[in-house]
Amino acid sequence: MANEANIDWTNIGFGYIPTDYNIRATYKDGKWSEPVISDSEYVNIHMAATCLHYGQEIFEGLKAFRGKDGKIRIFRLEENAKRIRRSADGIMMAPVPEELFRKMVIEVVKRNERFIPPYGSGSSLYIRPIEIGMSAQVGVKPANEYEFIIFVTPVGAYFKNGFKPSKVAIYRGYDRAAPLGTGRWKVGGNYAASLTAGDKAHQGGYAAVLYLDPKEKKYIDECGPANFFAVKDGVYITPKSESILPSITNMSLQQIAADLGIKVECRPIPLEELDEVQEAAECGTAAVAAPISEIHDIDTGKKYIIAPDNQPGPVTTALYNRLRAIQLGDVEDTHNWVTIVE
Ligand code: PLP
Ligand code: COI
Repeated sequence: MANEANIDWTNIGFGYIPTDYNIRATYKDGKWSEPVISDSEYVNIHMAATCLHYGQEIFEGLKAFRGKDGKIRIFRLEENAKRIRRSADGIMMAPVPEELFRKMVIEVVKRNERFIPPYGSGSSLYIRPIEIGMSAQVGVKPANEYEFIIFVTPVGAYFKNGFKPSKVAIYRGYDRAAPLGTGRWKVGGNYAASLTAGDKAHQGGYAAVLYLDPKEKKYIDECGPANFFAVKDGVYITPKSESILPSITNMSLQQIAADLGIKVECRPIPLEELDEVQEAAECGTAAVAAPISEIHDIDTGKKYIIAPDNQPGPVTTALYNRLRAIQLGDVEDTHNWVTIVE
């Protein structure tokens, strides 16, 4: 049995720590069951289930935080509820109703309250909803039965450098998604497609891979597990592309930037424009806003040096601080992004 007393909250990294419960709902005969609480970490799956053969698997990632006031806050869960529906529609799975998603997220967080890292630890409770195709099907067709499961696990920084800038690499021989493929949805196969390049990057001492647009290899797309933004002459610029995941963190940072009087541009960003930016970062639920120091285009040998002093830039720092403050309840949640768990 998991024991929160043994967890070193300030040093947990981003892995899997068992917690007490997960929550599950089943889609069968055209409808979703009531959620069921489970203390098993396993799923019993038919060997011909579509999730095993044809990649009918989608997931989400969101976080719960413990505030200074002791309250538990979940960040933007409605947006994750909407996105998992889009992912389900994208690969012909039964969409989870937003209200069911919400109810299950809140319930599983409450049930695992002792695993929510304390305020000040820098850690949070990562919430991982997954949906899988369950029915036996050997022809390439969608399943008619689905399982939706949410588990939680305490996490720290996704990148080992945390908020210290890291290097990222471009490998032109790999794409994570096709131009009009599944990149815009949170489909497991996109991450399978990113493993080889990701491993090369880690072997080479890079924190992540930065992908170029898969059609022309001309514009910046996103990183393996996060969106990309840069700051150019005081403007927040972030790629517009059909093959990237619409990041809820990026959407939030764009709003925070606007709140701070920073201009935002969401548009195709040619790779060479990196020579003109003063800051760059990866952003996502896991990554938060992780500054980038250098971008190496491995196949051409070109290096874009973004942060020669290896320090996070002022805009990235201001955006990161404001985002964290909202998530922790340190400042007012003026956009109603946070659900307080009662
Ligand atoms: N892009 C990819 C490929 C991701 O896996 C993630 C993580 O969820 C993101 C971007 C960031 O999205 P969000 O901010 O919604 O977590
Ligand atoms: C997230 O940021 O929630 C992600 O899903 C990224 C990664 C761990 C796959």
